[in-house]
Amino acid sequence: MTILTPTSKPVSSASLPDIPQGAAPAGLPDVATLSRLATAFFSAVPGSATPALASLGSGESLSAGLPLAAPALASASNPAPPGSPFAGPGGAGTGVPGLSLPQGKAAGANLLPSAPTHVLSLGNRVPALAPHAVSQNNAPDSVASAAPALEPRFGGAALGVGVPDVAQRDQPAASPFYFLRDAGASSGAGRELPLPSHDVPTAEPLGLPSIDELRSFGSVSGLERAVSAGGEPDRTGSFYFLDNARAPYSNEHLPRAGSAHPPFDVNAIRRDFPILQERVNGRQLVWFDNAATTQKPQSVIDRLSYFYAHENSNIHRAAHALAGRATDAYEGARDTVRRFIGAASPEEIIFVRGTTEGINLIAKTWGVQNVGEGDEIIVSHLEHHANIVPWQQLAAQKGATLRVIPVDDSGQVRLDEYQKLLNSRTKIVSVTQVSNALGTVVPVQEIVAMAHRAGARALVDGAQSVSHMRVNVQEIDADFFVFSGHKLFGPTGIGVVYGKRDLLEDMPPWQGGGNMIADVTFERTVFQAPPNRFEAGTGNIADAVGLGAAIDYVTRVGIENIGRYEHDLLAYATSVLQPVPGVRLIGTAKDKASVLSFVLKGYETEEVGQALNEEGIAVRSGHHCAQPILRHFGVEATVRPSLAFYNTCDEVDRLVSVVRRLSSRR
Ligand code: ALA
Repeated sequence: MTILTPTSKPVSSASLPDIPQGAAPAGLPDVATLSRLATAFFSAVPGSATPALASLGSGESLSAGLPLAAPALASASNPAPPGSPFAGPGGAGTGVPGLSLPQGKAAGANLLPSAPTHVLSLGNRVPALAPHAVSQNNAPDSVASAAPALEPRFGGAALGVGVPDVAQRDQPAASPFYFLRDAGASSGAGRELPLPSHDVPTAEPLGLPSIDELRSFGSVSGLERAVSAGGEPDRTGSFYFLDNARAPYSNEHLPRAGSAHPPFDVNAIRRDFPILQERVNGRQLVWFDNAATTQKPQSVIDRLSYFYAHENSNIHRAAHALAGRATDAYEGARDTVRRFIGAASPEEIIFVRGTTEGINLIAKTWGVQNVGEGDEIIVSHLEHHANIVPWQQLAAQKGATLRVIPVDDSGQVRLDEYQKLLNSRTKIVSVTQVSNALGTVVPVQEIVAMAHRAGARALVDGAQSVSHMRVNVQEIDADFFVFSGHKLFGPTGIGVVYGKRDLLEDMPPWQGGGNMIADVTFERTVFQAPPNRFEAGTGNIADAVGLGAAIDYVTRVGIENIGRYEHDLLAYATSVLQPVPGVRLIGTAKDKASVLSFVLKGYETEEVGQALNEEGIAVRSGHHCAQPILRHFGVEATVRPSLAFYNTCDEVDRLVSVVRRLSSRR
C-alpha cells in the first residue's frame, strides 16, 4: 500500500521557530502572565468563583484578547472536519442550503422527508452553546456546555463533574456524593438524584421544534419512516423525541432512580464521560470501539473512588463497620443487576470476571454435570470465540458434538435450519443476543423457546446487547444469561451470570475456597447456596459496586431512549458509509445494533484503522474474536466502528470523511 500519509507528523524541535525563553510570540501574553493565569485557574475550587482570577483584572489578563474562562468554553463543539462533505459553516447540516444529507438508504432510516437536513443529524449538531439541560450527574449545563477537547486536560468543574447545584446544596439530608443518592442499599433509602422536572420530555432541549410546531407541518402520524427494501416495519412517527413527547416512558419494569428520565440530550450525556474530552493525534477523541469496551461516566469513576475512600473491606458483614458497608454496597449492586435484567431474585445473580468467565462457569459446572457422550450442543455461526471454545472443550471432554446454526446472507441466523438441528440429544443451545462482529440482533426469545420445546436448556450471551436494548431474562425465558460490566459503561473485570434458581441449586461449584462454603472439615465440605457457591475467594467487590453505578446511570438515561437514539444513529451511519466507493458492509441484517463492520477495497483493515486513528477516531480492526463468521463472509478481518449513545452524527461524519479520502485515492 502506498498511501496513508500521516496527517499529523511529529514535529522535531529543530524545526520550531526559535523563541527566546520568557518571550511570547506576537499577539500572546508573556510567559509570566500565562503562568499566573494557569496557576490561578487550576487552583480555583471547582464550581466556585475564582478570586485569584478575578483579582487579575481585565486589563492584565485580557491584554491579548484572551477570555478569562477556559478557552474550551468559547469554541463550538465537535464541528465536522474541514473537507467533510457534511461540514457546514459551524458544523451544522450540509452547509449547502437545500442540500439534504443522504436519506432513506438504510434499514430503519428515520427521516423527515420534508426536512432539508437529517433530523437526528440536526439534533446532534445543535451544540450545547446555549445552555439548556443538566447532565446526568446534575452538573449545571453552563459549566461546560461546549467543552470540546482541550489540551492539556482539565477536570473537576470544567468537566461538569460532581458539582452539586444550588438546589442540591440546600437539601440538608442529601449526601455530598451525588452518585450515592440513588445507589440503593448503600445510599440510604429514598434519596434520589434531582432530575429536571420534565415528566413529558420534548424536543426543545435539543434545539428542535416543539411537538406543536411539528404538528403544524402536518400531523405527527403523517411523518413517514423510511422503509428498508427488506420491509422494516413502519413505526410511524418514531423519532425518539416524538415518542417521548407523545407517550411518557413505558418501561415500568425497569428500575428508576427518579420519577422521570430527563430528555435525551447527547450533549449533556457527553459531558458525563470525561474521556470524551481527550485528544488523540491533535483531534478530539471519537470513541467508536464500544463493542470492545465502553467508556465510563464520571459517576462510575466517582463511585469506585468513594468505595475505596469510605467503604473498602472484605465482605464479611458482621465483622466491623466497614465490612458492613462493603457488604451492603456489594449486595446492593447485585440487586441492581437483578432489577436491570428482570431476574426473579438476587440469588440468581453471580458475579464473575466477565462474559468469558461466565460461559466457562456454566460449561464447566452445568455442562460437565449434564452433557454426556453422544449429546449435542448448539451454537450459532455468529458466536464470539468465548461462546465457542468452552463448548468445544466440553464436547471434547465428554464425547459430545458441537453443532452450528447457519446464517443467511445478511448475517441473521436461520431459524429453519436451527429447527432441523434440534433433537432429543440437544442438551444446551448457546447463542449471542447481538453479534459483536456484525451487529445482528438475534431473535433469542424464539431460539430459547425452540430449545425448550426440544427439551434443551438455553444460554444467551448478552455481552453486546445489554448496553443497547432492554433485556428481561424472564421474558426471554433464558436458563442462563451472561454479560460483562465493561461493555455496559462499568468497570472491567466484573461480569454477571444469571441462572434460573432451580438450575443453580443443582449445579456443583466451580472453584473451591473461601466464601463458597458453609462448613469444612478434612473429611468433607458443605457448600453455600447460590450465588455464594459460585463466588469462591474474594471477588471484585469495588467493581461490582461500580457496575451497579453504571446501571444506575443507564437507568437514569433510560435504556429505551438509548436504544432509539442509537437506532437512528446507526441508520444514519449506514446511510452515509455504505455509498462510499469500495466500501462493503459485512452484516446487513434488518435488525442490527451498534456495529458497522466493513472492508474497503484496496486497503488492509489495519490501514483503515490506522488512518482513522491518525484523526483521533478509535475503531477495532481485526477478527474481533469471531473468526468463523468473518470467514463465512470471505474475510479475515473487518474495520468495526461500534456506536454508543454518546456518539453523534458529527463523529460519524468525521469517520466517513476519512474513509472517503482513502477511497478516492484508490
Ligand atoms: N469482545 C470484544 C470485541 O468484540 C473484545 O471487541
